[in-house]
Amino acid sequence: MFKEEVELIDEYEVIKGLVGVVIVRDRKTGLYLYNVIEPILSDNAGKVLTKSREVLRMSNKLPEGNDVEGYLRSLINEVMSRLRIRLSDDELKGVMYYLLRDTVGYGKIDPLIRDDYIEDVNVNGPNKPVYVWHSRYEHLRTNIILSHDELGSLIVKISQRIGKNVSSAYPILEGLLPEGLRVELGLRDVSPYGPIITIRKFRANPITVIDLIIDGVINAEVAATLWFMLENGINMVIIGPTGAGKTTLLNALLFLIRPEARIVTIEDTREINLPHEQWVPLVTRESETPGVQNVTAYDLVKVSMRIRPDYLVIGELRGEEAYVFFQGLASGHNGLTTIHASSLNAAVRRLMLSR
Ligand SMILES: Nc1ncnc2c1ncn2[C@@H]1O[C@H](COP(=O)(O)OP(=O)(O)OP(=O)(O)O)[C@@H](O)[C@H]1O
Ligand SMILES: [Mg+2]
Repeated sequence: MFKEEVELIDEYEVIKGLVGVVIVRDRKTGLYLYNVIEPILSDNAGKVLTKSREVLRMSNKLPEGNDVEGYLRSLINEVMSRLRIRLSDDELKGVMYYLLRDTVGYGKIDPLIRDDYIEDVNVNGPNKPVYVWHSRYEHLRTNIILSHDELGSLIVKISQRIGKNVSSAYPILEGLLPEGLRVELGLRDVSPYGPIITIRKFRANPITVIDLIIDGVINAEVAATLWFMLENGINMVIIGPTGAGKTTLLNALLFLIRPEARIVTIEDTREINLPHEQWVPLVTRESETPGVQNVTAYDLVKVSMRIRPDYLVIGELRGEEAYVFFQGLASGHNGLTTIHASSLNAAVRRLMLSR
């Protein structure tokens, strides 16, 4: 029956021998579906997993660093001897997979984060399928659904990892996960159907100007002109709507700057990544705590002027920092930035308003 209703489109492994992905097309609706296939545990392995989770929950501690796997292994051994169960090597691998997934990993959505083809992971609330943006098949509905509790604990885990507090006083959180993933959290206060999570992954290898030329985003003449402008101190503003590829183009252009140049970048959430030795990445800090300084892009632009960068880059120009930024450019600094706008006129309007 499975075979008749869906057509197999693609399949590959995400974790060798353990986790696979099967992409199918539903013949009726034409929808593409992304199915994560995780290890199926035997009864005995299931018992060991349940008990191990229980012990973990009670002890409520996990060693820091690389020792997690060793710790879990001895935990599993202890549980096995307590339950008088012997597991085969394959069964053990399965149990270990789930324990790692739910402790150091991101729970049920962990395979999505590990799949290099996936660029965005979208959790749109509890009890709804998680969607992904796949670099080959674009939007796909997955077979992963988080319950209310699972979503709640994932939010807590993510907020801890980005070092911000979830509270209804600050229902929108943005940050960078240790793996370099940009994440956006929206709590119930702003999202009536339940909390949402958007994770944007960075590509393993950043997109270069060569990639942009090969993909036809810009042609070689445009690329050469932009490079020439960059070398000769012409300032640039990259304008486009959400997800248009502004930051990607900015990053690719910055790669062309000669290696000894001093480059200061200012962002709310770090996305830009450069190989230059004199690259100074600055990030803003929103403070919720009295007595802890709130550091805005405006503050950082002012500081940057004093540390004499060859290039001053603002990841995204939004507010009052625009004024100091353009003042800086007028006084001879080289600057690059992006503005979120659908047209040049709209961008100019936004700049006038931000004054
Ligand atoms: N030329 C390209 N080829 C393939 N993927 C691309 C290309 N340019 C951008 N992307 C991908 O598209 C997504 C959005 O790109 P990017 O972050 O650069 O857009 P943006 O305009 O800065 O978005 P935002 O408005 O959210 O800041 C990223 O996942 C990026 O990897
Ligand atoms: Mg951007």
